[in-house]
Amino acid sequence: MISYVSTRGGISPVAFDEAVLSGFAADGGLYVPETIPKISTAQLQAWATLSFVDLAFEILSLFIPRSIIPDDDLKKIIAESYSSFEHPDVVGMVPLDKQGNVIVMELFHGPTLSFKDVAMGFLINVLDYLLEKRDERLTLVLATTGDTGPAAAWAAAGKPTLDCWALFPRGMITEEQERQMTTLNASNVHPVGVENCTDGGDDLDFVVASLFKDQELKEKLKLSSVNSINWCRVMVQSVHYFYGYYRTVEAVGDDVVFSVPSGAFGNLFGGYLARSMGLPVKQFICANNINHTLHTVLSSGVLAKKELIQTISSAIDIVVPYNFWRYLYFSAGSDSGRLAAWMDEFEETGRMEFNSETLAIIQHGFASIAITDAQTKATIKNTFEQDGYLLDPHTAVAVAAANAFKESLPDRTKFLCLATAHPAKFPEVIRNCLDSDTGLPGQAMHTSLDDASTVCQHLRLCDIENLEFALVDAMTTNLQSH
Ligand SMILES: Cc1ncc(COP(=O)(O)O)c(C=O)c1O
Repeated sequence: MISYVSTRGGISPVAFDEAVLSGFAADGGLYVPETIPKISTAQLQAWATLSFVDLAFEILSLFIPRSIIPDDDLKKIIAESYSSFEHPDVVGMVPLDKQGNVIVMELFHGPTLSFKDVAMGFLINVLDYLLEKRDERLTLVLATTGDTGPAAAWAAAGKPTLDCWALFPRGMITEEQERQMTTLNASNVHPVGVENCTDGGDDLDFVVASLFKDQELKEKLKLSSVNSINWCRVMVQSVHYFYGYYRTVEAVGDDVVFSVPSGAFGNLFGGYLARSMGLPVKQFICANNINHTLHTVLSSGVLAKKELIQTISSAIDIVVPYNFWRYLYFSAGSDSGRLAAWMDEFEETGRMEFNSETLAIIQHGFASIAITDAQTKATIKNTFEQDGYLLDPHTAVAVAAANAFKESLPDRTKFLCLATAHPAKFPEVIRNCLDSDTGLPGQAMHTSLDDASTVCQHLRLCDIENLEFALVDAMTTNLQSH
């Protein structure tokens, strides 16, 4: 049976349910499978025509033992998780003809209009399933740069086994994103607007990490995480790489390049996982904005914490890409001792440098680039004018990155750009980019956001200085009321 270990190696292996229910490993590491399942070429070919939902079942059942979730239950959970998606195929594939071999893979057709819905609905449904069986309750706490919070709040709303505390840096996400969390009016959803976060979402990640480090508190408050720290998120995020690959190639084995707008490396880790399982991906492009921690480490081997700069692709304004530790763990040959030393050095000094041998390993199949706001804006404008297609600022980072790599790769290379959010979540940015007096185009609107714009918001406000204390207090009071 597949078991899960911590990247820091400080705990005994656990089963899938334990890894998913606890989120963080108790030694401060991240859960990963002891070994990554491999898919044979015959199996890869047999899956080529499967729907997204059927593909999800095949892939996820390699990671979830049947003794924990039997096949029929897993199928039901998957069907329920994607039933709220607007696109009949779950994921949309849109070629940008005028940009030659650039294809947008729309991952934003879920209820909160970002790619986070792809894995979050499933994770929350799995948690609810496991908790109901055990007759237990969990308190989810998460930090969001704008999209994880809405996805978690929406999926958790009304679930009797869960409370969901979504922390967001006030003023650093769009009003549309804020309202998606604050207008649900579900008594188990608790959005918290946090003020004075100079390092944006990273300030909040720090508080969340600190809560989880305190084992006694973690147990008392029954805390768990649904950030992409949770293994289940990154595992599910491998499915769309398989799906996009199959819908793009003529034959399994053909080359595809995935361009991915990246912040914490959770989405890209899903791609790495798919490739490690056997998906023949030629290359990933890690597309950063000017908060380019990932680009810096992938191009120079230096992992360093820098000051956060606010950009128009705000969801990837991240300076500590915590899922990169998972990638480093596997790049170091699953050597948890080496990984723990790296994590400690980074935590102490905020900087570390890999030797040339390690750099060559982490660069294998990964190109990277940093895209400026000016390039993002130009890409939104040009794509709308040439192809009649409206990109959100994050997807625009991926499209700009793909176009930047075109010259260095063979002419027929297909670039699959992951569209991680619907443009309607960023109306102000779109307005500035299109520079038009005629108002926003229809593609920049969505009825669910229009509806949320007129109802009353329910949220708590807190200064970052007091957050940890106030949160523990509010969570304790809330738990006592159950
Ligand atoms: C719209 C959007 N694009 C891209 C990303 C980056 O994903 P990751 O942090 O997994 O790299 C996020 C995550 O916050 C997002 O919300």
